[in-house]
Parts: sequence; structure tokens; C-alpha cells
Amino acid sequence: MTRFSVVTGASSGLGRAVALRLAMEGDHVLLLGRDEGRLLETADLVSEAGGTPLFEPVDIRDRPALRRVLRTLVPPAGIGLVVHCAGILVPGEVDEIGYDDLGAMCDTNVH
Ligand SMILES: NC(=O)c1ccc[n+]([C@@H]2O[C@H](COP(=O)([O-])OP(=O)(O)OC[C@H]3O[C@@H](n4cnc5c(N)ncnc54)[C@H](OP(=O)(O)O)[C@@H]3O)[C@@H](O)[C@H]2O)c1
Repeated sequence: MTRFSVVTGASSGLGRAVALRLAMEGDHVLLLGRDEGRLLETADLVSEAGGTPLFEPVDIRDRPALRRVLRTLVPPAGIGLVVHCAGILVPGEVDEIGYDDLGAMCDTNVH
């Protein structure tokens, strides 16, 4: 049975590379990120690798929106693998970074 995988941060960097690798191994991959144009670029790469791309622009900090996307696109058999590559980095020492930036990093990278 084909594994259904979800990759966050699939619009660039590590997430794009992981998504492509999973597609090459035969997974059906849901690509998540905010930038539709760059998600489409990843989807094209997945297609070229022989996969069937599925992508949806979403801000993963918006939990209701993320839930809606997953409810709509995840098949009844469920998710076989989640690779959470979405992340932001605000450089600086902890006591130099503002509360809002720390919160944004936690909301994106950890939750
Ligand atoms: N590359 C490395 O060598 C390395 C080493 C150590 C740690 N890391 C960490 O690993 C993570 C990924 O690294 P990377 O090099 O792949 O970074 P990247 O190219 O900047 O990719 C970050 C990804 O996260 C997505 N993203 C960010 N905020 C999001 C949000 N609110 N909702 C949905 N997607 C969001 C971005 O997509 P959109 O802009 O389309 O939303 C993008 O696809 C980062 O946290 C980075 O700090 C990377």
C-alpha cells in the first residue's frame, strides 16, 4: 500500500529535498508551506520524479486552517509519516530576541 506522507516546509530547502526523496521512494506526498509558487515548483519536481504531487498553501501557525487542510486532503487510511521541516530562525541570543519573535519560532518550529 502506498504510504501517505506529509512534509511541512516543502516549498524550499530541507522540506523540498525530503519531499522529493519520499516521492522517489513511492510515497504519496502532501506538500505544505505558505508560498504557492514555490510549492508548485516542488510539485513539478515531484512530478518529474514520477510522483503524484498534492500541495496546499497553509500557514501552519494557523491551527484551524491546518486542521481543515488535513481533514480535506488526508485519505481515510491516514498519515504514514510526517516530516516537519517548516521552520524559521531569528538570529540572536535568547535575551536579545523579542517575545514575538520567540513566539513565532516556537509556533512554527515546535508546536
Ligand atoms: N539547512 C540547514 O542546514 C539547517 C540546519 C539546522 C537547522 N535548520 C532548520 O531547519 C529548518 C528548515 O531549514 P531550511 O534550510 O530548509 O530552511 P528554509 O529553506 O528557509 O525552509 C523553511 C521552510 O519552512 C516553511 N515555513 C516557514 N514558516 C512557515 C509557516 N508559518 N507555515 C508553513 N510553512 C512555513 C517555508 O515555507 P514558506 O515560506 O512557503 O511558508 C519553507 O519551506 C529551519 O528551521 C532551519 O533553521 C536548517
